[in-house]
Amino acid sequence: MTDAEDAADLPAAARALAGAPWRAVAESDFGPAAAVPTMLSEEERRLYLWLAEHWATGAGALVDLGCFLGGSTALLAEGQRRAGRGAPVHGYDAFRISDWLKEKYLTPAGIAPFEGDWTLPLVEALLAPWRQTVRLHPGRLEKQSWEGGPIEILVMDASKTTFSMDRMAKIFFPALIPGRSLVVQQDYLHWKQPWIAVQMERMADWFTPLAHCPGDTVVFLCTRRIDRAALDHGHCGSLTDAEMLAHIEAAAQRLSRFGIEGRVRRLAEALRRNPGARNAPSMKTKP
Ligand SMILES: C[S@@+](CC[C@H](N)C(=O)[O-])C[C@H]1O[C@@H](n2cnc3c(N)ncnc32)[C@H](O)[C@@H]1O
Repeated sequence: MTDAEDAADLPAAARALAGAPWRAVAESDFGPAAAVPTMLSEEERRLYLWLAEHWATGAGALVDLGCFLGGSTALLAEGQRRAGRGAPVHGYDAFRISDWLKEKYLTPAGIAPFEGDWTLPLVEALLAPWRQTVRLHPGRLEKQSWEGGPIEILVMDASKTTFSMDRMAKIFFPALIPGRSLVVQQDYLHWKQPWIAVQMERMADWFTPLAHCPGDTVVFLCTRRIDRAALDHGHCGSLTDAEMLAHIEAAAQRLSRFGIEGRVRRLAEALRRNPGARNAPSMKTKP
C-alpha cells in the first residue's frame, strides 16, 4: 500500500459503503427528485441520493457528466439538500433528445410534447427546485473546462467513446481529492463501453473500487492526486485490443470480491466480438 492509499483510509471508506446502505433510502426520500425523468435503475437512484446525503461532506462540488433530462443531477442536489449542505451541483450534457427518447421518457412523465431536440429549457424547469445550487453546462463534454475547485463526487455517464472518456479524465480528474472523492462509473459494466474498465484498471494506482450498484455502476475512491503523468498512464485511446483485453481480465480479478467478475469478463467478450470498436455505436454484436 502506498502512503497516499494509507492516507485514504481505505478500510473506513469500504466500510462506509459495505452492505449497500443506500438500499435503505425510501421512495419518499426522493422528494421532488422523484418527478425528474432518469435512465438510472431503482437502486442507482438510491445510491446517488445516499452518496450526496451521507458520503459528501461539502469538501467539493458534485459533478454529473451526462445528466440527460436532469434525473441524476436532481438526485445529487436533493441528497445534499437533505443533509443541509449547498455545494454546487454541476450538470453537463449536449442537452439534445431524439424522438424515440422523448417517447420513452417524456410521455410517461406527463411532460408536454415540444418541437425540436433542444432540452436545456426543459431541464432547467425540471431542476428549478434546486436552482440555488445547480449549474448546467450545455455542449460537447470534450470541449468543456473545469475551474470549479475540488470535486467530491464525480458521476460519469457519458463515456460513449474512448476519446470522450480520455477527455473527461483530463478535464475533471485533477480536481479529485485523494482519500475523499468518489468517481461513480455509471456504465462500468455496460457491454457497449468496455473501455471504462480498461481506464480504471490502468489507473488502479489512483482509484480503488468501493462498491457495485446494480445495474452497471461501480463506485471508485480516488486515492492519489491525479497529475499529468497519471493521466498519461490512464490514457486509453491508443491501446490495442490485446492490451484492452489484458486490462479487462485484471479488472475481473480485482473486482471479484463484488461477485461481478463474470460480468467484467463479458466486457472482454463484447470487445472480442466487436474488434477495434472504440465507440458505443460500433459495438453492434452483443456477447
Ligand atoms: C445515459 S445518458 C445519462 C442518463 C442520466 N444520468 C440520467 O440520470 O438519466 C447519457 C447522456 O450523456 C450525454 N452525452 C454523451 N456523450 C456526450 C458528450 N460527448 N458530450 C455531451 N453529452 C454527452 C447524452 O446526451 C446523454 O444525455
